[in-house]
Amino acid sequence: MKASKALIRDFGEIEKLQVSSKGPGDFVSAADKRSEKIIIEELLKAHPDYGILSEESGEINKGNKNNRWIIDPIDGTLNFLNGIPHFSISIGYEENGEIICGLIFDPIKDELFFAEKGAGAFLNNSRIRVSKKNKLSESVLVTGGPKFNNDNKEEIFNEYVKISNQVNAPIRKFGSAALDIAYVASGRFDGYWQQDLRYWDIAAGLIILKEAGGFVDFLETDEKSHIKKNIIATNSDIHQELQSLLIKKNIE
Ligand code: IPD
Ligand code: CA
Ligand code: CA
Repeated sequence: MKASKALIRDFGEIEKLQVSSKGPGDFVSAADKRSEKIIIEELLKAHPDYGILSEESGEINKGNKNNRWIIDPIDGTLNFLNGIPHFSISIGYEENGEIICGLIFDPIKDELFFAEKGAGAFLNNSRIRVSKKNKLSESVLVTGGPKFNNDNKEEIFNEYVKISNQVNAPIRKFGSAALDIAYVASGRFDGYWQQDLRYWDIAAGLIILKEAGGFVDFLETDEKSHIKKNIIATNSDIHQELQSLLIKKNIE
């Protein structure tokens, strides 16, 4: 809550900075660091010995492999930078390498997505479930990327065209991977896929989606590396259809 208050305050400053000659770039990275500092301080206060993997600070208490927080202090930085009110704080909690708790908080809409293994997934105080849509053609999908320095840009664009041709609704791109997954978990989207994500983009989302009855899979991922993730996250009905299309692309 403390971190989100700082983010809301900083977001309020963005509009002013947008029109300044320097632009909001430096300010945003400061906001990112401020949010991260508050989160880490609070988590360490509660559990001084727990491990932390956080986007800006890297690893803390590296030796603790049993208990670890995975943090993205602002997911959706480009939105934040441009004064677009769609970004989140994402925190996952891992025990012995498995995410068992996750929260994704959208401070502007005051929406807290939360899940704990075996206890279901929630948006604020209400239980959430994935959608029941069972045809890919009728699904509303979301994706993201490529980044400007992706060396497989062409492949990612081709994938986008290919999937677009299979669905009636135009594919969305909202710019926060964490919220994309949370929106699948709450039935707003039916499915999400994206290449080259980082673990902190999706860690909290993994458990939220699973507890909401959804499916997560990774394509072409180095199992030992928690760095790059090519994810498919959907309701349970369209998973197969989307997955086989994406896999087919890889062998064509
Ligand atoms: C980014 C967002 C975006 C995704 C990028 C991520 P950031 O995270 O999740 O939706 O397309 O791949 O890097 O940089 O805003 O924390
Ligand atoms: Ca991110
Ligand atoms: Ca980030």
